[in-house]
Amino acid sequence: MNGNVKTLNQFIIERQDDFQYASGDLSRLLSDIGTAAKIINREVNKAGLVNILGNHGTTNVQGEEVMKLDIYANDQLISALSSGGEVCVMGSEENDDVIQVEFKEGECKYVVLFDPLDGSSNIDVNASIGTIFSVYRRVSKGSGPGTVEDCLQKGAQQVAAGYVIYGSSTILVYTTGNGVNGFTLDPSIGEFCLSHPNIQTPKDAKIYSINEGNEAQFPAGIKKYVEYCKGEDKATNRPYSSRYIGSFVADFHRNLLKGGIFIYPPTAKTPNGKLRLLYEANPLAFVAEQAGGRATNGKDRILDIVPGELHQRVPLMIGSENMVKLAEDFLAKN
Ligand code: AHG
Ligand code: MN
Ligand code: MN
Repeated sequence: MNGNVKTLNQFIIERQDDFQYASGDLSRLLSDIGTAAKIINREVNKAGLVNILGNHGTTNVQGEEVMKLDIYANDQLISALSSGGEVCVMGSEENDDVIQVEFKEGECKYVVLFDPLDGSSNIDVNASIGTIFSVYRRVSKGSGPGTVEDCLQKGAQQVAAGYVIYGSSTILVYTTGNGVNGFTLDPSIGEFCLSHPNIQTPKDAKIYSINEGNEAQFPAGIKKYVEYCKGEDKATNRPYSSRYIGSFVADFHRNLLKGGIFIYPPTAKTPNGKLRLLYEANPLAFVAEQAGGRATNGKDRILDIVPGELHQRVPLMIGSENMVKLAEDFLAKN
């Protein structure tokens, strides 16, 4: 292989000493997620052929039942993570309850929470979608399967988090609390290769991402902030640009690289916001902070929120530090 190319697995092993709890287990776990991502990617790329290959619920030419992609992605992650021996319990946006893993030998130390396919309404229109994941150490005693308690830790306890985007190219971005790195899938060799080392997000920028169709239901401070984004002022580089795909992970990734703010505020329809604390907000808040950004619910740091339940939702402001701080000021003053 070309000496300049570093694969995800090489990188994970090289950085193993960064982990607070030096162990090969977390390395194996991250590499299992990489493998599941490649399998999901293959299926996502075939999504447009659904009318030829068969719809959800039908049987395809190989005699297999065709699954909805988010269920397929969920199954892939669950099977990749339950066979490795590192994970004691999982939580998924697609499962009402935790998924306990019957351990084989020794102790399984890790807890993984995920949104197997984020932005799934974009599948049919060939726009970017992704997988978001979050890793914790188990807190429950014993060496059997983990419990709900293991999943309800605050985001600051995460030992790793990241996402994969299935887009114009497929990229895996993750952090273990020592910076953020991105790996693009080279389909010709089937490997994720380091393409975005040490990602730093700009402190100030000019992209705002919010579903403005809901504006009538926004809190007053958010309405005022959106008005501010659209106002004209040379000194502050306004008006800003509005960009909103409707896949949180893809909106987040663009803003991470270019700088910007993503907001999903409380609305009358969704009083606690729409995004889930455990599967969406916490992992991307960890990535954002590690890249020099900021993530709050408008007031408090996302990573300090103690979860009360698995599928809890949370209002979210995430992205460039100074933009998020200013949006918080608008909320506090209005
Ligand atoms: P999911 O596909 O996992 O259910 O998540 C969809 C989420 C998120 O990806 C996106 O930012 C948000 O829904 C968009 O919501 P609106 O259509 O209300 O803007
Ligand atoms: Mn989602
Ligand atoms: Mn989802």
